[in-house]
Amino acid sequence: MERTKILVTGGAGYIGSHAVVELYNAGFQPVLVDNFSNSSEKVLSGIEQILGTKVPFHNIDCNDAEAMRAVFAEEGSLRGVIHFAAFKAVGESTQKPLEYYQNNVGSLLTLLQIMREFGVEALVFSSSCTVYGIPDALPVTEQTPTKKANSPYGATKQMCEDILRDVAAAPNNTLRTILLRYFNPIGAHPSAKIGELPLGVPQNLIPYVTQTAAGIREQLTIHGNTYDTPDGTNIRDYVHVVDLAKAHVVAVQRLLEAQGEAVETFNVGTGRGNSVLEVVQAFERASGQKLNYTIGPPRPGDVPAIYADVTKATEELGFQTTSTLEEALASAWKWQLSLGGEVKK
Ligand code: UFG
Repeated sequence: MERTKILVTGGAGYIGSHAVVELYNAGFQPVLVDNFSNSSEKVLSGIEQILGTKVPFHNIDCNDAEAMRAVFAEEGSLRGVIHFAAFKAVGESTQKPLEYYQNNVGSLLTLLQIMREFGVEALVFSSSCTVYGIPDALPVTEQTPTKKANSPYGATKQMCEDILRDVAAAPNNTLRTILLRYFNPIGAHPSAKIGELPLGVPQNLIPYVTQTAAGIREQLTIHGNTYDTPDGTNIRDYVHVVDLAKAHVVAVQRLLEAQGEAVETFNVGTGRGNSVLEVVQAFERASGQKLNYTIGPPRPGDVPAIYADVTKATEELGFQTTSTLEEALASAWKWQLSLGGEVKK
């Protein structure tokens, strides 16, 4: 039987590559689009090693409407799209706001236009818990009001969500969209063939931790320990990237079966909050390594604490987390070790 084709933009990225593997394992044919702006061609061979087959790949920028149109035309029978492709560094977005709005919002508009031209009516969109800003109460549900974003990056995710809700509300709309609000994805595929591959100095906690343990960085700086949390460090909801990837598969299935409303929103996290110090301790247990760390000042824009209520995703998508924090960190460490000396200082 022919596999149902799903276009995956940003398919060589961290979450995208794991979703490609899970889509294929669930019987879909993922078709990748990426321009390697924040990823590497090596990801494609990692995917191939896991799946034992090559997946169709197009090296293009999602903002290039003509090139995207050519992909839709060439592939012919795309049934849905997962749109991962975006810039994602919070700090950088304050330095380059125009690039962030252009790339993240512009590429969605281009994609929606082309999906309409080709009659492709199912879209999973990568949103983020950053849309909640600093929440008044925890955990956050999908009903928790969104607040002004702390960064241009966050603002692009809010704008894209607004665009998709407006499209869904228009008369004669035929597009079905699922907005997945990711909490903090961590870990790597159990094979250690794919994982998080930050270019340059990592901004995110886990790659910084694993690179420090590997001796690539001297020490981790914990960004502040005087927050109003039990140990004073920030609290986040760290979800294994493979669990997160699987949420995309069930979202695609739900869209193709035309269940639910025209636009639906789901938190994808574990429902657990862990502090930065708890992550450090869990990493030390998982890896058997002692981590060199120091306490620094708070990082501008950091939300003190956020974690998800995942009742809706559990009940309506059948979403489940299968990994503990330690297991996820063990997979991140295995991935770091598999990289050897590949990471640039
Ligand atoms: N942290 C440190 N030291 C570091 C890096 C991070 O203490 O060297 C702390 C942060 O202060 C924060 C926690 O670790 O408390 C997690 O930080 P990350 O940078 O890994 O992730 P964020 O929670 O800041 O998540 C943000 C956005 C997401 C976005 C993600 C990826 O909220 O929407 O960055 O860039 F997807």
